[in-house]
Amino acid sequence: MTRPDRLLAAFVAATILSISYAQNPEATVYTDPGTGIIFDTWNIQGNSKAGGLTFGMALPETALESDASELIGYLNCGSQNSSTSKGWCGIALGGSMTNGLLFLAYPHKDKVMTSLRFTPKYTMPSVYTGNATVSQITSRVNATSFSVIFHCRDCLHWSQNSTTGSAPTSSGLLDLGYAKSVDAPGNPSCPDEATIMRHDLGGTWTAMLDEAATDPSYNSWRSRANSTVSTCSNTSRLSMHGEIFHPRPVRLKL
Ligand SMILES: *[C@@H]1O[C@H](CO)[C@@H](O)[C@H](O)[C@H]1NC(C)=O
Ligand SMILES: *[C@@H]1O[C@H](CO)[C@@H](O)[C@H](O)[C@H]1NC(C)=O
Ligand SMILES: *[C@@H]1O[C@H](CO)[C@@H](O)[C@H](O)[C@H]1NC(C)=O
Ligand SMILES: *[C@@H]1O[C@H](CO)[C@@H](O)[C@H](O)[C@H]1NC(C)=O
Ligand SMILES: *[C@@H]1O[C@H](CO)[C@@H](O)[C@H](O)[C@H]1NC(C)=O
Ligand SMILES: *[C@@H]1O[C@H](CO)[C@@H](O)[C@H](O)[C@H]1NC(C)=O
Repeated sequence: MTRPDRLLAAFVAATILSISYAQNPEATVYTDPGTGIIFDTWNIQGNSKAGGLTFGMALPETALESDASELIGYLNCGSQNSSTSKGWCGIALGGSMTNGLLFLAYPHKDKVMTSLRFTPKYTMPSVYTGNATVSQITSRVNATSFSVIFHCRDCLHWSQNSTTGSAPTSSGLLDLGYAKSVDAPGNPSCPDEATIMRHDLGGTWTAMLDEAATDPSYNSWRSRANSTVSTCSNTSRLSMHGEIFHPRPVRLKL
């Protein structure tokens, strides 16, 4: 398709999605069969190019009374076919691409790689410099999809370069954003150096939290997180690729 066609398609898709999610933010309760962890989940439909995704949250028992700072996340990212399955999925925990914590995940060999990012501008997000950490509980990769269940500590509040923000769980409503690209990241073996292309699918939704998202078992579920991906600890390459991620304005309204 030509660029204007793609732009229009993305805009229409995002508009339809935001209308439907604005009307129906209720969560679907999902119990992961492998771990027994119970999530509130929200399903985002794909478009003609990118498959859909499902994001879920399990929260500490008191998260609906006092703001939680952490979550157990579930991300299931699907593709149209195996040739588009190496791309990335991202969740904007502040509802916008800018000035909020971004969770990025993509498959690499049999692993799911993750990276926390942050950006004040609509350019490729650089590595988050705050103290959030991700540790995986389970992950799965096959020819057309990947999923990961992860503990994300200090991910529901953030601070970088004097910009602070949070996802206030006690409000029972979170503004979240999603983005997805069918193109595989560059430098995939080092997630904090991975370079990403503009997303093919992106938008926001309002996620309504219900009691199913909170559970007294949260702490024991969290303690099963025992796997962190190697970041290779070399962020100096990121700036060299800063031009690669150059989204068009209409898609950036996460
Ligand atoms: C895979 O899906 C993409 C996006 O829909 C499409 O462009 C491509 O032709 C598909 N490839 C195959 C082999 O079906
Ligand atoms: C990959 O896993 C998903 C979820 O378990 C499943 O729906 C899909 O059929 C699997 N695809 C392949 C090619 O095995
Ligand atoms: C950073 O870590 C400290 C110690 O765990 C915690 O108290 C604080 O809330 C965290 N701040 C952010 C923004 O993640
Ligand atoms: C920090 O904020 C300043 C002023 O807004 C901005 O110019 C700079 O790019 C930011 N740096 C990072 C790493 O976000
Ligand atoms: C993490 O724990 C699971 C069982 O909960 C175990 O199967 C897996 O081998 C552990 N992984 C590591 C890296 O220790
Ligand atoms: C980090 O990346 C830079 C730029 O590519 C490279 O020069 C340097 O050797 C790398 N450092 C390590 C420890 O890999």
